[in-house]
Amino acid sequence: MSTIDAAAFHEFERAGWERAAEYYVDSFGGVTAQIAGPLLDAVHAASSARLLDVASGPGFVAAAAAARGARVTGLDFSPAMIAEARRRYHGVTFQEGDAEALPFEPDSFDAVVMNFGLLHLARPDTAIAEAHRVLRAGGRYAFTVWAPPTQAVGFGVVLKAIETFGRTDVPLPEGPPFFRFSEPDEAREALARGGFVDSEVRVVPLTWSLEDAERVFEAVSRGGVRTAAVLRAQTPEALEAIRDAVRRDVEAYRDGDRFLLPMPAVLASATKPNS
Ligand SMILES: C[S@@+](CC[C@H](N)C(=O)[O-])C[C@H]1O[C@@H](n2cnc3c(N)ncnc32)[C@H](O)[C@@H]1O
Repeated sequence: MSTIDAAAFHEFERAGWERAAEYYVDSFGGVTAQIAGPLLDAVHAASSARLLDVASGPGFVAAAAAARGARVTGLDFSPAMIAEARRRYHGVTFQEGDAEALPFEPDSFDAVVMNFGLLHLARPDTAIAEAHRVLRAGGRYAFTVWAPPTQAVGFGVVLKAIETFGRTDVPLPEGPPFFRFSEPDEAREALARGGFVDSEVRVVPLTWSLEDAERVFEAVSRGGVRTAAVLRAQTPEALEAIRDAVRRDVEAYRDGDRFLLPMPAVLASATKPNS
């Protein structure tokens, strides 16, 4: 039986993103922003479409949609992320709000997207239902999550190092499995349960390009939430061993003077039916 306390996990994530916001662009931004094009193509984002970017973070996808001429709203529950997005993209509307209780009327949008947000939610199925509610009939929905850590190497090397040199039994508010929607069937079934049809799920190859092997450990420990909390709970000795192991594993991805880590994403999209 699940022991998830959704309210506790939601608050843990919100506090975590408040802390991570200032590091996120330099940590994961270079890789999460890469998928904005395919994500917007998946919802057929065109000029003057009403588009909602949920869990918009620093606003990469919202800004890319605005550049296509869409009428965009970016929404995030972290005031620090909203401030970051407003600082970066002056012409785009960003507002605070919760993916699990969208502050919009039914039929408000032609397209809703969520880039690497679903895996952070206490109630992802509620967020999918909310996207369905605010879309018009015939509107499009798409989300991305990371591929499993065997493929998304940046996560794989850190999780392996923690298992080998640290402790994994850290008492944190329990949340849904981070890689749940990395399984295409899970993504398809969740979309169908949320009322969507014609779902498509595909893997999009992304590359995390870093100038320093140390950056993976730093990115995960500063620019993330769950694994960052697990790292904070390690002893100084274990943390040093984890950091060394991550650096050694990242060395295998050296390409000239950079490190190129495969970080594929799973892109799922679907349509709200007409009746
Ligand atoms: C991994 S970041 C993704 C940011 C951005 N979409 C990108 O492409 O890089 C996850 C974002 O989800 C936001 N978030 C997490 N849970 C949320 C919720 N319940 N409602 C709204 N935003 C949420 C966080 O504040 C954070 O900005």
